[in-house]
Amino acid sequence: MMNFDIFKAFQTLSTAFGPSGRETAIAETLTELTADTVHNIGDWDHRIDAMGNLVYHRVGNGKKLLLAAHMDSIGIVVTHIDEKGFLRFAQVGGLMLGDLIDRRVRFQNGTRGVISFEEKTPYAKLGFDNLFLDIGAADREQAEKTVQVGDFAVFDGEPFQQGDIICGPYLDNRIGCLTLIGVMAELAQTTCDLDLYVAFTAQEEVGLRGAQTAAFAIQPDYAIAVDVTDTGDMPERKYPMVVELGAGPAVKIMDRSVICDNGVKHALYAAAEQHGIPVQREIMEFGGTDTGVIQRTAGGVRAGAVSIPTRYIHSPSEMANIRDIEYAIQLIAAVICDGLTI
Ligand code: CO
Ligand code: ZN
Repeated sequence: MMNFDIFKAFQTLSTAFGPSGRETAIAETLTELTADTVHNIGDWDHRIDAMGNLVYHRVGNGKKLLLAAHMDSIGIVVTHIDEKGFLRFAQVGGLMLGDLIDRRVRFQNGTRGVISFEEKTPYAKLGFDNLFLDIGAADREQAEKTVQVGDFAVFDGEPFQQGDIICGPYLDNRIGCLTLIGVMAELAQTTCDLDLYVAFTAQEEVGLRGAQTAAFAIQPDYAIAVDVTDTGDMPERKYPMVVELGAGPAVKIMDRSVICDNGVKHALYAAAEQHGIPVQREIMEFGGTDTGVIQRTAGGVRAGAVSIPTRYIHSPSEMANIRDIEYAIQLIAAVICDGLTI
């Protein structure tokens, strides 16, 4: 059923620049990919709002449904450059220290660097303050020719595919974005009364900021957010979680930001059952999603979420299963075609 190559699309989106607050390039890439993939794209109009959200709209006579996926990624921002040309940085979104050492990063202008640490600090006691970024500059003057304080950088890494597995930086949440593009492509084949909005939101990783203003402007009746979720299927995990890779998309019940609307949740389960789509039950004890702010917008929105099971979230080597993404596309398209009767 899929009319576009999920891995190829992920490669394109993974390497597009788009840390929180700097979403211009990723929004452009998404616009191009959407135009190439959704053959009735003329039925949709799109705009970028003041927060940088990229919002598509297809007019319908029925209730308003908002589909949302954040397009921003985590990253770092330069805070200081010393006289020897080494850079210090702050986090943009939630990074884990262990994921950073010896990692390559890339600035928007193509400048690359490697993150390392002050060796005099015992390894177990390292904090973010003990890390620095080396762009190979001879001194501050040379460094400042390519990078300034306030410049953002992202993980620099090539994604790979191995069987049904895809791996690389920024599955969170470029796979959510391509899931929604897949849904838009699927909907080209069907008629549906819903007044449809698809928002690729900005600044999720720094506190669900873009979705908040997008949802307020749209004031939808229903919303479904798509993002990654943690899995419990690696060895010796600290907390039990039933979600696993390759067992289908997860219908969110709850995370730290939201208790999902029961009606939306049941509509997703019902569509899954009717169309023979495997789904899992998600309770994520840590982390939140755009669903949390969308639900609490204006007078409240009946909001749910579909999550793509993903290992090693926020590392440069996030891992997911292509089948889960295909099923997520089918599931959301199905729930829309069935009319989302709640
Ligand atoms: Co994230
Ligand atoms: Zn995310």
